[in-house]
Amino acid sequence: MKIRAIDQMDLSGKRVLIRVDFNVPLDKAGNITDDTRIQAAIPTVRHAATSGAKTILLSHLGRPKGKKVPEMSLAPVAKRLSSLLGKEMSFVPDCVGEAVEKAVCAMRPGDVLLLENVRFHPEEEKNDEEFGKRLAALCDVYVNDAFATAHRGHSSNVAVTKFVKEKAAGLLMKNEIAYFEKALVDPARPLVAVFGGAKISGKIEAINNVLGKVDKILIGGAMANTFFAAQGHEVGKSLFEAEMLGTARQVLANAAGRKVKLYLPVDVVAADRLEASASTRVVPVQEIPVGWLAADVGPATSLLFKEAIHDAKTIVWNGPMGAFEMGPFANGTFSLMRALAESSAITIVGGGDTDTALHKAGLFSRMSYVSTGGGAFLELLEGKRLPGIVALEGE
Ligand code: 3PG
Repeated sequence: MKIRAIDQMDLSGKRVLIRVDFNVPLDKAGNITDDTRIQAAIPTVRHAATSGAKTILLSHLGRPKGKKVPEMSLAPVAKRLSSLLGKEMSFVPDCVGEAVEKAVCAMRPGDVLLLENVRFHPEEEKNDEEFGKRLAALCDVYVNDAFATAHRGHSSNVAVTKFVKEKAAGLLMKNEIAYFEKALVDPARPLVAVFGGAKISGKIEAINNVLGKVDKILIGGAMANTFFAAQGHEVGKSLFEAEMLGTARQVLANAAGRKVKLYLPVDVVAADRLEASASTRVVPVQEIPVGWLAADVGPATSLLFKEAIHDAKTIVWNGPMGAFEMGPFANGTFSLMRALAESSAITIVGGGDTDTALHKAGLFSRMSYVSTGGGAFLELLEGKRLPGIVALEGE
């Protein structure tokens, strides 16, 4: 790639501004409920600090829409980061201005400083050049490690790069790009893509793009209901997209035309309502009772999908197989995760829900790579070039 990485640069004594993605979930009391993204940035932060850099971290959290929203402060992140790094660090309650300049001026090599939520400034999401220039003025070297934000073209990941002397990808960004290339640019074959989740409309571009690259495609989750309906099956009260029936038929025809093997569920866990206490019944997809809904793929489908990935050398997965948040509908997602964990294929998983399910199943560490990107991962699957990555490219 034409992108330099942080480990190819001399950072000693330099002010290094690292754009990270610390957009982590917080509960009502402000406690971080999942720190995966903070942990994912640690290798880059540690690398910079031990290389003698003055490390300045910049992130967004939530969507404060250009206003200072106290509940979206990065202060709780500073605490968690400090304990993960095992090191004292400072936090400044803004990301530009006098207080920030003073704090940066006082830094010594090895110090780490976290700035306040960059989205408290309305210029950020407008990719404002002046704001990018102010951010750039804080550093000698700019590093982008925020893969999960790379699909946004904002000041802190695009405009800023026009005004910095040196720019590079962080270790997380480098890994995300490398694994993605392993998956879809130069994969070991057979290459299998697995799609799940609620709606075909949100994933159709990704499905169409990967159809040109994969050997097999597995489709589960509520989006499979639209395929069932397109095949003329009764789907009862199941979530499905009536306006996407033609699109679903087109996907089936495209797969057949390209000789891509496409697998749909053969049975489902039907429920009389989408609640953990619902009455449930395993039925063939042709027999979803009127008034019931498909809440998970059934055991025959789990076996079919397991057999379908058996010879895979690379598997890319986005989206759960059912409503895994509720115990009775978790099995389809969890058993496919177990099959991936036992597989010798390179397994690359992305998407917020899939990530949550992996944690719930205790199988996070058994995947070859779990992307930190939700939207960013999906846009890469769609074949798009992400602004935050393009902005890092050199001559
Ligand atoms: C994410 O969580 O997908 C990223 O942090 C980007 O956040 P956004 O969707 O609010 O831009």
